[in-house]
Amino acid sequence: MLSDDLRAAVDADRTRDAGARFVDLVARYFEQTALGVGAVSPTAGAVSRRASFDEALPMQGRPLSEIVARLEREFLADANRLSHPMYMGHQVAAPLPAAVWTEMVIAALNNSVAVAEMSPTGTLVEERVIRWMCDLAGFGPGSGGTLTSGGLEATHTALLAARAALDPDAWKRGLTGAPPVIICGEHAHYAIARAAGELGLGTDNVRAVPSSDFAMDVEALAAMLDRLAREQRRVMAVVATAGHTATGAFDNLEAIGALCDARGLWFHVDGAHGASALFSAAHAHRLAGIARARTVAWDPHKMMLLPLAAGALIARDERDLTAAFSQQAPYLFHGAEGARSADQGTRSFMCSRRADALKVWVALQRYGASGIGAMYDHLCGLAQTLHRRMALRPDFVALHEPEANILCFRWLPEGAHDDETLDWLNQRLRERYNASGRGWITSTVLNGHRVLRVTMMNPRTNESHVEALLDGLATESAQLLNEPA
Ligand SMILES: Cc1ncc(COP(=O)(O)O)c(C=O)c1O
Repeated sequence: MLSDDLRAAVDADRTRDAGARFVDLVARYFEQTALGVGAVSPTAGAVSRRASFDEALPMQGRPLSEIVARLEREFLADANRLSHPMYMGHQVAAPLPAAVWTEMVIAALNNSVAVAEMSPTGTLVEERVIRWMCDLAGFGPGSGGTLTSGGLEATHTALLAARAALDPDAWKRGLTGAPPVIICGEHAHYAIARAAGELGLGTDNVRAVPSSDFAMDVEALAAMLDRLAREQRRVMAVVATAGHTATGAFDNLEAIGALCDARGLWFHVDGAHGASALFSAAHAHRLAGIARARTVAWDPHKMMLLPLAAGALIARDERDLTAAFSQQAPYLFHGAEGARSADQGTRSFMCSRRADALKVWVALQRYGASGIGAMYDHLCGLAQTLHRRMALRPDFVALHEPEANILCFRWLPEGAHDDETLDWLNQRLRERYNASGRGWITSTVLNGHRVLRVTMMNPRTNESHVEALLDGLATESAQLLNEPA
């Protein structure tokens, strides 16, 4: 029997007043960050919060008001504030607010989208969102897909489908013969090597094609394919990247797709970052040839600016996804033999699945496809502005033309510094700048060197913030040079 107190607590938490506490908290966060108030991330001076969360399991409940106040005081206060316009860090969005509020609806309904009868409307909305994405990619009527937890899962699923096409019995018997090869660019995301490891192919069987301007060198790919054909190695898939993680560069999908078509190879596009360029009249050309792909990974939680998690995999022929998971589960899936199943679980890695498609649907209804495209253009425009401004400075050097919203650059202070010192100085500059609370940027390694990297993910970031980034880096770098060794 539930105690009266416990029942009363659950009932009270269902009310508008209880919900308003959370809504107010988030609205305050949105207001403050929109104005750029406060630090972007915990500053070097912030008291370590570890002690706050070092507590015994709470055996008895507490008032909701107390918990929400603590969330604001201890959790939000030292969180990374991605909605702050000076956050220019990883490829995680300052999420679109209408989609944030939709999270409450998804959670409240809690309809699992693995099985159509468990989520009648969730299934329809996911189908609709996938259809829109397939249409944008130029896929025809037999196409389909599934929402995923992100790009990693989407690419894993695509490679599972490629394995099923190459060796349909692999699901049951395991792979036979020499493991096939997966080909990708040298700057491809680790999702591909991880899938190769997970699928039992072995990461040694991932072949990296060298790059030209940070995108896959197509001639080198053709040469690699010729070599593998001479060695009689099976190729399971060629993976191109549309929007490389480090630089945002786009592989030439048209040329790579044509090579795959000519040789009958599975062509997967990792468009986790850049497939959203399909919403942009100015940038969609970077995806020319995408319709040649058998599968495309595409993360709405990146450049469609949705809250985590919302990834997607679309397939030119939806049956490829069903073939990837040759599983029967009569206690869950009820489709008629041979017919297309309405249950998304038949083509998805996950069993219990959130109706994440709903927030994609709401964002598109609220801001429109043109609005999503305009935000994509705005964010890419900021990277171009930074690139232009940097050209006027002797001490910061951009390392590529930005093709998306990402720019890698290096601080080259005056004076003779060897590469090792420059690597260290760039690393330290990032640490100092981020710890100052002024902004937040990332770093990566390009051509063996530590470089600084920004990703514009916040539609409220504007040119004045780009200026503030340069000023902040200049201030911190000057202080760093004066730091005692
Ligand atoms: C090109 C690319 N592919 C895949 C991924 C992995 O996506 P997720 O983190 O959504 O799983 C990323 C993430 O940065 C990416 O940039």
